[in-house]
Amino acid sequence: MDAKLAARHPDPMTEGNDFQAARLTVRLPAIIANYRTYRRMAGPTAVAAVVKADGYGLGAERIAPALAQAGCDSFFVARLEEAIALRKSVPQARIFVLDGADADAVPALISHRLTPVLNSLGQIAAWGAAAGVGTSKLDAVLHVDTGMNRLGLPGDELAILSGEHARRLAGINPVLVMSHLACSDEPSNPMNGEQLSRFKQALAMLPPAPASLAASHGAMLGMEYHFDLVRPGVALYGANPQAQEGTGKGAANLMQTAAVLTAKVLQVRRIDSGASVGYAATFRAKRPTMIATVALGYADGMPRTLSGKGVAVLGGVRVPFVGRVSMDTITLDVSVLAAPPRIGDEAELLGETLGLGEVAASAGTNEYEILTRLHRVPRAYEQ
Ligand SMILES: Cc1ncc(COP(=O)(O)O)c(C=O)c1O
Repeated sequence: MDAKLAARHPDPMTEGNDFQAARLTVRLPAIIANYRTYRRMAGPTAVAAVVKADGYGLGAERIAPALAQAGCDSFFVARLEEAIALRKSVPQARIFVLDGADADAVPALISHRLTPVLNSLGQIAAWGAAAGVGTSKLDAVLHVDTGMNRLGLPGDELAILSGEHARRLAGINPVLVMSHLACSDEPSNPMNGEQLSRFKQALAMLPPAPASLAASHGAMLGMEYHFDLVRPGVALYGANPQAQEGTGKGAANLMQTAAVLTAKVLQVRRIDSGASVGYAATFRAKRPTMIATVALGYADGMPRTLSGKGVAVLGGVRVPFVGRVSMDTITLDVSVLAAPPRIGDEAELLGETLGLGEVAASAGTNEYEILTRLHRVPRAYEQ
């Protein structure tokens, strides 16, 4: 290829380029607005942003600096690698690492100024040992398990720490004590109150420190769940924190739509009654049918479980998925449209009309999984 000729043609992978067959538009102003909604709701309580899994699939590198500019000074990630990458985007912010501080992670945590969430006596010992080498105490979060049985100090370890905290936390400055709710998307679930009271008991057993219990849904359970810091994730990205996850049902969504997924029509055909569509011929037309094939598939993160169940919006009209979702394409029955779509027309697969909750419910999964799967789709950012 002639280099001069190539230089005169746009790179299809650059943002907002019209050649992209599918696109994930991330609305940074919506994410900031959602963050501000939490700030308003939380009143005097601080609000951190959870940006693990690459900002729930929407791009932590772009989201975190935008939130930092809006006044967010604390971020949570799961993995050490995520935290190291994030440090470049938000040089001044506090970055909490949920995986904690196993001995082999300690040097990187220190060199990148990361704050581990310590989940066990073993991690407390590893972090404390590193502190012993330096002259000043090392900041850390203490994570107590109040019923999730996933991460965090179990009851027996909490009791030991309570009795020996002067020694075990000698080199550690606990900047936060936290726990995580298991059923916060169900306000009437008694487990919420049980975890709240276990958390209060745990706080009484430890040296005084700011506390954090609630994430997106938990913050909606009332002020008594707020403590000193709330840490929303999924709601910042548009999920409804007042709906049970994966159902699409609940109170009206206070959050703004932050992710819009579109894909172009690649081909349109009219098929006869009796003809089939896609792998395994799972759809067979009962009448002459107009089929549009759009450029999005399970390799882009569209769940294959949407086969025969999903919906797209084309020209403002909802049209059903027919046949199986393939690796790179979805086939739509567009017979209801007044005129067949044209090649290059854009179908919406997620966005203002097709909310995260609805798509998750149709796919038999939750909003989190829908968002975090969209790896191949090029992103465009609205500033
Ligand atoms: C410990 C912890 N805090 C906060 C969050 C954010 O939760 P959500 O996305 O439901 O707001 C998560 C997410 O899984 C988490 O594991």
